[in-house]
Amino acid sequence: MNIAVIGSGNVGSALAQGLYKAGHTIFFGVRDAASAKAEKASGLVSNAKIASVAEACKQADVIIITTPPEAVLNLVAQMGDVSNKILIDATNSIRTRPEPYPTAFHALKALTKSDKVVKCFNSTGFENMTNPVYPNFGGIDMFCAGSDKPSKATVQQLAKDIGFGECWDFGGDDKVELLEKFALSWINLAIMQGHGRNLAFKVIKR
Ligand SMILES: NC(=O)c1ccc[n+]([C@@H]2O[C@H](COP(=O)([O-])OP(=O)(O)OC[C@H]3O[C@@H](n4cnc5c(N)ncnc54)[C@H](OP(=O)(O)O)[C@@H]3O)[C@@H](O)[C@H]2O)c1
Repeated sequence: MNIAVIGSGNVGSALAQGLYKAGHTIFFGVRDAASAKAEKASGLVSNAKIASVAEACKQADVIIITTPPEAVLNLVAQMGDVSNKILIDATNSIRTRPEPYPTAFHALKALTKSDKVVKCFNSTGFENMTNPVYPNFGGIDMFCAGSDKPSKATVQQLAKDIGFGECWDFGGDDKVELLEKFALSWINLAIMQGHGRNLAFKVIKR
């Protein structure tokens, strides 16, 4: 698939590396192609194209937002007509939010009028996105939320392409904020409780 990764920082470059290795074509959509983050990302994903947000979105089947959440308020105007594209919100509204919306997911749904918005890739650290495989455990788990099931199925496959063991369906649009709280739980354990960022969630059943 053609995938636009909006933002080329920690999360953008981590996801782009895995998706590129799985055979997808990456278009980074950036505000400044000469920025240190854009240059570093293009070195990490050698065949990725560095483009404007508008151009990256035009080329893409799937668009992943990896900027601070409030940036979506400005990004939407640059994205063009994305009504037929899957939009993935990987942000967390922890310190800032796209007022008056509670999360970037809600802003994207309201401002793009797209039904194909999925929350995913927000619930673990970027190091786990770069390498989701733990010795003895295999691929760690990812989680996604949103009410459009076909879009979620595509996103679940992308998570598996990157190397996540499973991408659990967390529920519909009503579970998006819970999935951000779940991300906060990872941040709490990894950072506030001091267990370190090489820590991941995996669902087990019996
Ligand atoms: N870090 C993690 O482990 C982690 C895990 C899960 C989710 N998240 C979420 O993922 C998002 C990104 O985190 P990150 O750690 O990747 O941040 P980061 O390394 O600072 O990268 C942010 C990227 O967003 C771009 N950006 C910022 N404002 C923008 C704007 N107004 N328009 C266009 N691009 C803009 C930056 O571009 P410039 O280079 O031009 O500044 C940069 O490429 C955040 O919402 C965070 O909550 C982070």
